[in-house]
Parts: sequence; C-alpha cells; structure tokens
Amino acid sequence: MDNKLIEQINENTSIVDLVSEFVSLQKTGKNYRGLCPFHQEKTPSFFVSPEKNICKCYGCGEGGSPINFYRKIKNISFQEAAEELAEKAGITVEKVAKQKDPYEIFYKLMNEAKEFYKFNLKNSEKGQEALKYLHQREISDSIIDHFDLGYAPEHSDALYKLLNDKGYQVSDMIKLGLVKQKDDGSYYDLFSNRLIFPITNPKGSVVGFSGRTLSKKDSIKYVNSPETVIFKKGHLLYHFNEALPDIRRNKQVVLFEGFFDVISSYHAGIQNGVATMGTSLTIEQAKLIKQFTDSIIIAYDGDEPGMKATLSAINILEKVKLKTEVLTIPESLDPDDFIKAYGPEKYEGLFGEYLKDPYQFRYHYFKKGKDLSNSNDITAFKNQVLEMLAYADKPVQNIYKNRLANDLNVSPDAFEIKTKKQPPLPQNDVLPKKEVSKLANKYEKAERYLIYAMLRSKNDSKYIQARLKTSDFVDHVQSTIRILIDSYYKDHELMDVLEFVNSLTSEQREYAEHMLFKDILWEHSLPIDELEFDQLIGLVKNANLVRRKAYVKAKLDQDDYKNDVLLEEYKLLVKVK
Ligand code: CTP
Ligand code: MN
Repeated sequence: MDNKLIEQINENTSIVDLVSEFVSLQKTGKNYRGLCPFHQEKTPSFFVSPEKNICKCYGCGEGGSPINFYRKIKNISFQEAAEELAEKAGITVEKVAKQKDPYEIFYKLMNEAKEFYKFNLKNSEKGQEALKYLHQREISDSIIDHFDLGYAPEHSDALYKLLNDKGYQVSDMIKLGLVKQKDDGSYYDLFSNRLIFPITNPKGSVVGFSGRTLSKKDSIKYVNSPETVIFKKGHLLYHFNEALPDIRRNKQVVLFEGFFDVISSYHAGIQNGVATMGTSLTIEQAKLIKQFTDSIIIAYDGDEPGMKATLSAINILEKVKLKTEVLTIPESLDPDDFIKAYGPEKYEGLFGEYLKDPYQFRYHYFKKGKDLSNSNDITAFKNQVLEMLAYADKPVQNIYKNRLANDLNVSPDAFEIKTKKQPPLPQNDVLPKKEVSKLANKYEKAERYLIYAMLRSKNDSKYIQARLKTSDFVDHVQSTIRILIDSYYKDHELMDVLEFVNSLTSEQREYAEHMLFKDILWEHSLPIDELEFDQLIGLVKNANLVRRKAYVKAKLDQDDYKNDVLLEEYKLLVKVK
C-alpha cells in the first residue's frame, strides 16, 4: 500500500467519528476530549482534533492518525486497519485479499458452528433448559451475548447437516473435532447436550469449543475440542481477545482457573479476566500475556489444588518477569462461589485487601500445616523457602531470611541462599539447543518470516520470488521450501498448508514442524506489515552480501591479494553497506 493511498484513507476517515465508536467524547472549543482508551484515568486527557484529523493522549502519549488509532485499539496490523477503514470510506484497495490466512476456511467453519450453538441456546426446547441453568447461575442475557455462549443439541447430527448443506468439507469438520464418523459410515456431532463456550485465538477467531455437561449424572464435566492446527490449548487463553481492551486500560490481566470464574467476574466488574482451560499455565501463555501487559493477578480457586496451581503459575510468570500478585480468596472458595456468597462489591473489595505478592503467598503456603517442632517439617520448610529465594532480589532475600530465622528460632546466619539467575527465555522451549541458537539468527528469522508470508498469500509469494534470487536464502532447507511453495502456487490459488506439508520430504517436514510452525508469529497468525516485509527482503539480501564479502576476503587472504577479479569485487562489496 503506497503512501498516497494511506493518506487518502486517513483523509477520508473522520477521526471524531472513528474515536466516538470507542470513547465518549465532549466538545471543548475546537477539539474533543474523553477518557483515554489506552490507559486507566479518571480525568479525560485524550484529545481529538478534527482540524488535524488526529487524536492524542496527553497522559500516556498514545494516539495518531485514524489508521494508527484503529490498529491499536483493535489490535490488528497496519495493513488490516487501513483495509478496513478504506472499505468504510468506500475506497477501493487493490490488495484486499493480501496475507490471507491459510486457515481462513477453518475459522469460517468454526464461526458457523458457534452461530449454530448460539441459535440452539435461544431457539430450541432443550436450549431453553440450558438458558434456565445459566439464569439460575445469575448469568444475564447480555453476559451470554458477550461470551457467545451456546447449546449443543443431544445425540444429533444437526451441525453436521448444516455445515454440509453450506458446502463445507466433512474432512474439515472431522479435522476440527466437530463431527465424528460412526462404524456404519454416518456422521454425528461431537458435542451433545452441552452448554457451549466458544474459545477464540488472540485475534478473535473461534478456534475451539468447550462443552459443559448439564446433567449431574454425566461423569465428564467438560468436553473440549481436540488439539488441532488452530486449537492448541497450551497456547491460548479463554477470553483473551475479548478482554484485550480492558487489559490495556487496566494495564493488568487477571488469570482464573475456570470459565465460570471469568464470566461471573466479568459480571461483577472485573472485565480483564482470562482463564487457562484445565491445564497449568504454560510459558507460551505467559509470553502471550507479556506482549500486552506487565502485570498480572492470579485468582485461582482458594482450595488446595488451586494453591498448587498458583505455585506453578508463579514459577512460570517469574520466567517472563511479569509483576505478579495473588488473590487469596477466603474460605477456600473459587471466585464464582465467592461472588454468589458475598456479592460483587465484597468481591471487588478482595482485589484491594486480599492481594499477596508471590513471596508472601509462598511463604505462607509453605508454612501452613507444618509442625515447626518436627525436624522433618523444619527441614522441608527451610528448603522450600531457600529455594524460593534463589531468584529473589537481595532485600527480599534478607527479609525472608529474617522471617525464617524468627520462625525457627535461630540466627539468620544459619542460612545460605544459593542465588541463581533466571536463565534467558528460549525462543521456544520445545526446541533443542542447537535449533534455539539458530532461531536467534536474525537472517534465518527473516527468511522464515518471508516463508510465512509466502504461505499465506500467492500475491506475496510472487512479490518475494521476484525480488530474491534462489541463492539469496542461506538455509538450504528454507531455500528448497521456498522453491516448493512457488511451484505449489503454479497450480493452486490458495495454499492448503496441510496438503503442502504432506508433500515435503521428511527433512523438510521436520523443519516445518519444529521451526516454521513453532513461531509465535505463525501460531497466532499475526500478520507481517508491508513495511516490515521490504525490510525482511533487504535483510536477506544484505546477509548475502555480508557472506559474500567474508568469502571473498578469505579467498584473497589465501593467495595474497593476487586475484584481480576478486580484488575488484571486494572493493565494491566494501562500499555497499
Ligand atoms: N476443566 C476441563 N475438564 C474437566 C474439568 C475442568 O477442561 N473435566 C477445565 C475447564 O476449563 C474449567 C476449569 O478446568 O473451566 C476449572 O474447572 P472447574 O472449577 O471444575 O469448572 P468451572 O468452570 O468452575 O465450572 P463450575 O463452576 O460449573 O464448577
Ligand atoms: Mn470452578
């Protein structure tokens, strides 16, 4: 997208109208002002100038042109923001289909399923019972809408039929875990007589479902979509995309254990809540959070499993250096139960009074239930505390050394803390060391990102092919994959990634699965901005020059600068920077 077009889109978008969609504005003289949507404030410091057609917050500095405002508030790329605004302004943008996600068809299918479940909640007889159940749990209709809750009919093939009528492939329905096949060859829906929670990825596309039983007799409380190419439970957080505006506003996220905790808390006014889905917090989830905020409150259940889960979450969060606080809910209740028992006001009050820092929480937890006159308990307690202090700052170490000394009735000198440094975060903790160091190589990364772009769009693939020579890629596997992508597009309009990967040799496939598809950029299908795009190409070209220079220099060194041709080339190479 060229600068002229960008200018045209900005000029044809009224900043006042655009901001008004997100912020309530008051007129003050020539300008408008309102509460900043990017940080929390009580007096408005967010200004909108119709004259200059820009907005700016004098508190946090955020703002800019219409496109810039829009990309930030919607958490989308510059390209996407420009395209959406162009469409609203009636401007035709040529490359609208740019950077198409190869999984687009899956998202469409999942969205149809979501609509189907929603429809059934409100419009079927059994759905009414599910609705009654939600109302009994004090979940209002507007909350049901916000969370897109639904109902899956019992022993049915209605979803299969609907999707089939709409022309979706049954193989895709099966791949996504919505439909299964019986021995007699017929198909049926996986979710049966369950309350449905759609689960979105960080960009807001539905990627999976969880279904809660409505019958007490059922031994399985939640059924989840199976792991698929778009649904990786360990990489996603429930309600993350939906909570993003509130996470940004509060500069903080609240982490819960269950769907109902997120939902009841939302109703009670805590709207920046997300949840893991029955598994302990992973480093990927922590990294995802860290991209958007530096501060987190763990609000797990107050019972023993909840405390254990809190411990393990603290360890993960320490690694990404998120400022962590722990909400300790009285009487071993979970957030949902607490709200039911004491009401939303008392609950919100907990967030002021009942927060502990991770050291307070752990110290208390380790001490609880121990008999400090029993030598086994003393040793266990001491070891747990010293281990916790290994990564702590000196002043924190000193405080807890004293506290421990006090509790055990000995001198603080009795303890020696083996201070450790948090190891730097690996780009991806499932990769072996060698691969990690390769990942750190920015040239390799540039090549990889170009491959993402090529996989996502035929147009981009052509663009890149035209600008880079085959020899420009360093990594020979990436180089061959790049050629294969190009030839795939010779007889395909759209990339089917699964089909493509299946056509690779085992070495290439291993690379694709362990490197290519492990990057956060790919997993969250984050787009690459056009600007970045040209930079990447530049970087790859530059890498080639650097390599060539080193090669020529080594050759010249070898035979005492006697080779005139190489010497000329070397002089040229030194000039280009
Ligand atoms: N979970 C799961 N499978 C189960 C049980 C739980 O995947 N068999 C996950 C769900 O994501 C659930 C979370 O673990 O939301 C917490 O479990 P639990 O506290 O039992 O569920 P709640 O959502 O709190 O449901 P309820 O309030 O109805 O008990
Ligand atoms: Mn619960």
